[in-house]
Amino acid sequence: MKDEDFLLREKYKNKKSLWFYFDLLRLKLGYPLAYLLGWQPFLNLNIDLKYRVLIPRPETEFWLERYVFPEFKEAKNLKVLDIFAGSGAMGLAMAKNFPHARVTLSDKYLRAIKQIKRNAKINDIENIELVQSDVFDKISGKYDLILTNPPYVSGNFKYTKFSWSVLFFEPLEAVFSKKRGLFFIEDLLKNAKGYMKPGASLFIEFDPWQKSEIESMAKSLGWTDINFLKDQYSRIRVVKLINNF
Ligand SMILES: C[S@@+](CC[C@H](N)C(=O)[O-])C[C@H]1O[C@@H](n2cnc3c(N)ncnc32)[C@H](O)[C@@H]1O
Repeated sequence: MKDEDFLLREKYKNKKSLWFYFDLLRLKLGYPLAYLLGWQPFLNLNIDLKYRVLIPRPETEFWLERYVFPEFKEAKNLKVLDIFAGSGAMGLAMAKNFPHARVTLSDKYLRAIKQIKRNAKINDIENIELVQSDVFDKISGKYDLILTNPPYVSGNFKYTKFSWSVLFFEPLEAVFSKKRGLFFIEDLLKNAKGYMKPGASLFIEFDPWQKSEIESMAKSLGWTDINFLKDQYSRIRVVKLINNF
């Protein structure tokens, strides 16, 4: 279905009011459909976007369902951390589909914390806790599983194909990071093991071209069990690391 038909059906119940035409104009100018609607589906959740956090992406939905859900199907008392959580889509999907798990979601920004709270309520999820934290600053404890989609886009034109829609409408602190987009990934590779139980897994989403740098960084930091996983478009999109330290 075309975006404008979806907008007309979902937001305007097929009534072509003046507001619909105003939204249509915004859509044509690149305003994201999910912000016009105010929500985005993510697996079996409805992710509200009132606080204008990053719109969860289909790639993230794909790898979570394809690689993470089956692996932890039988796990008992799972302790999960979704760090750089944004709307909370990933951590909340874990909490919803693993009702015996305990999921911690963290983000540096208050708007994300408010958004996660709201999304937990909308989706009737209680097995979570929220921590406002600059990366690991306020995180404590050891986890069986850490999931993360940190800001990983380089601000350099050489590495990045800019989408105007992302640049103008999505929060920049959710998208860009220093060191060619690898600043937070390096931080995770250096410090995540301190928050992982022995044998625990860490999944990090990244830009496909960053693969070789991530691989050499991980090896030089002592990670030995490193697996790269593809997205639905057959591009390397996620690295899974096991804590064998
Ligand atoms: C790419 S978004 C990911 C959102 C969500 N996990 C998803 O997949 O849709 C990255 C998130 O990192 C947060 N963030 C940026 N800098 C941070 C920092 N220093 N510490 C913690 N969170 C940060 C942003 O607020 C944003 O919500």
